[in-house]
Amino acid sequence: MSQGIRRIGVSTGGGDAPGLNAVIRAVVKAATNKYGWEVMGIFDGFDGLIHLRKAKLLTPLMVRGILPRGGTILGASTRGNPFAYPVTVKGKTVLKDLSDTVIRNMKRLRLDALVVIGGDGTLNITYELYQKGCPVVGVPKTIDNDLSATDKTFGFSTAVTTATEALDKLHTTAESHHRIIVLEVMGRNAGWIALEAGIAGGADAILIPEIPYDIQRVSQRIRERCERGSRFSLVVVAEGARPKGGKQSYVETNVPGRLPRLGGIGNQVGEALARATGMDTRVTVLGHLQRGGSPTAYDRLLATRFGVAAVDLVARGGFGRMVCLRGQRIASVALSRAVSRMKAVPSRGELVQTAEALGITFGR
Ligand code: F6P
Repeated sequence: MSQGIRRIGVSTGGGDAPGLNAVIRAVVKAATNKYGWEVMGIFDGFDGLIHLRKAKLLTPLMVRGILPRGGTILGASTRGNPFAYPVTVKGKTVLKDLSDTVIRNMKRLRLDALVVIGGDGTLNITYELYQKGCPVVGVPKTIDNDLSATDKTFGFSTAVTTATEALDKLHTTAESHHRIIVLEVMGRNAGWIALEAGIAGGADAILIPEIPYDIQRVSQRIRERCERGSRFSLVVVAEGARPKGGKQSYVETNVPGRLPRLGGIGNQVGEALARATGMDTRVTVLGHLQRGGSPTAYDRLLATRFGVAAVDLVARGGFGRMVCLRGQRIASVALSRAVSRMKAVPSRGELVQTAEALGITFGR
C-alpha cells in the first residue's frame, strides 16, 4: 500500500463551488498525517501544470483556517483545457494540445499522483490524462449536482440554501406588492437547484430543463391563486429551462475554449407572465451568489470525506477512478463511467411528484 509515493499534487478545475477548500485541507492533512507524503498545490486548474511557477508545496499550516472559506485557495480556471489550450498566434486565438507538457511537468515536479477536484468538464480532461498514462484520482464537485456517478456533489447544499434564502426574502416583498417575482437560478442543463430550492422556499411554479414548460399553464396557476386570495406568486426558473417547442437562452456563445453561457430565461418568463396575467412582475437573477460564501455543514463534511477518500484511493493505487457518494457511504467509480452520463431530474420522480402534490406547477 502507498509504495513509491512521496509527493502528490492537488488541483481545482472548472468553476468554483463552496467546499473546495475543505477538500484541499483534507487532502493535505490526510496525505501528511496518515501517509507522510508531501502535497503540491497546483494553481489555476491545469494551468498550474503548464506554467510551472503556478505550483507550490502546501503544508498543514498553510491550510489552517480554510475549512469555512468559500472559493478555492488554489484558484480555478474554466479556460485551461490542456488538450485544447487557447494560445495567441499572430493576434488570433487558436487551440493547441499541450497535454504532453502537462505530463512532462508532472515529472519535473516529482508528482507521483494527482488529485483533481472538478465537475464534468474537468473530470473529462482528467480521464483523458489518465488514458495518456497520468496517475490521477478525481473528486466530484459542482453546485449543479448533475454528475450521475455520485448521489451528491459538495457545493450543491450551499447553493440550494442560498437560493432558498433568496426565495424567503422575495416572498415577503412579492406578497406586500401583490407581484409575481421570478427567480432565475443556476444549474446548467439540470434543474436540481431550482427544484430543491423551489420546494424548500415555497415557490408556486418551478421551471426546469427536464420539463419544457407551457407559459399558459403557469399563468393559469397564478390566476387561480389570485382568485383564492393569494395575489402574489413566486416562480423559480432554472437557467437551462426552455418553453415547449422553444430553445434555451444564452448570453454568450462561440468563445474559444469555453462552454456557451446560459442566461436570460428569467427575463423571458417574467415578460411572458406579465403579458399573460397583467400583473406587476419583477425578475431576480441570483447568479454567482450561489457559488460563493461559506459552505454548509453538509458540504464541509462531504468535501472532507471526499478529500480523505481520494488520498486513500491514491494509496491503494486506484488511479483513473473518482470518489463518490453512494447512499450514506463513500465509494469510488471508474472515471470513464463518471463522465459518461449527466444526472438529470427524473421528470416523474419523487421530488417532482412531491412538488406537484403541493400544487406547485412545472408548466406541463
Ligand atoms: O457549473 C456550475 C455553474 O455555476 C453553472 O451552474 C453555471 O451555468 C456556470 O457554472 C456559470 O459559469 P461561469 O462562472 O463561467 O459564468
